[in-house]
Amino acid sequence: MTTQDNLQEAFAGESQANRKYLAFAEKADEEGYHQVAKLFRAAAAAETVHAMNHLRIMKGVGNTTQNLQSAIHGETAEFKKMYPSFIEQAQKEGVSDAALLTFDVANQVEKIHAQLYTGALENLGNNKEVDYYVCQICGNTVENHPPDRCPICNAPKEKFKRID
Ligand code: FE2
Ligand code: FE2
Ligand code: FE2
Repeated sequence: MTTQDNLQEAFAGESQANRKYLAFAEKADEEGYHQVAKLFRAAAAAETVHAMNHLRIMKGVGNTTQNLQSAIHGETAEFKKMYPSFIEQAQKEGVSDAALLTFDVANQVEKIHAQLYTGALENLGNNKEVDYYVCQICGNTVENHPPDRCPICNAPKEKFKRID
């Protein structure tokens, strides 16, 4: 393992810890442990600092053209290879509808992300001003206006959050 590999692994771990602690904080709030929720959120914020530091040191952030290319590459690998193989495995096991569903919705949304990024790259410098809305149930990402029903998970319009 090189230091570059270790930076990559540390970045992945810190990124995961950030999201996990935010989920833990939500649970702690739900259970009435507000002080513990705060601690989880504080640590989550710190893990974000660590993740960003590691990413910067490993030169994981380029210019926006490079970053869009990197994002397209990542999303494409997910919807062309990773999720299809995960879905196939879940089907083979035949036991896990929930796993199948979470892989399937993510798979569909990553494809949309790749398309949105590709459009953004093609128009870089002349990007049209649009709003983005994200379905809080499946992550579906749409331009301009939220649909009445999410075409991926069927959630109602109110489940779409505008992102600025
Ligand atoms: Fe950390
Ligand atoms: Fe994505
Ligand atoms: Fe959705």
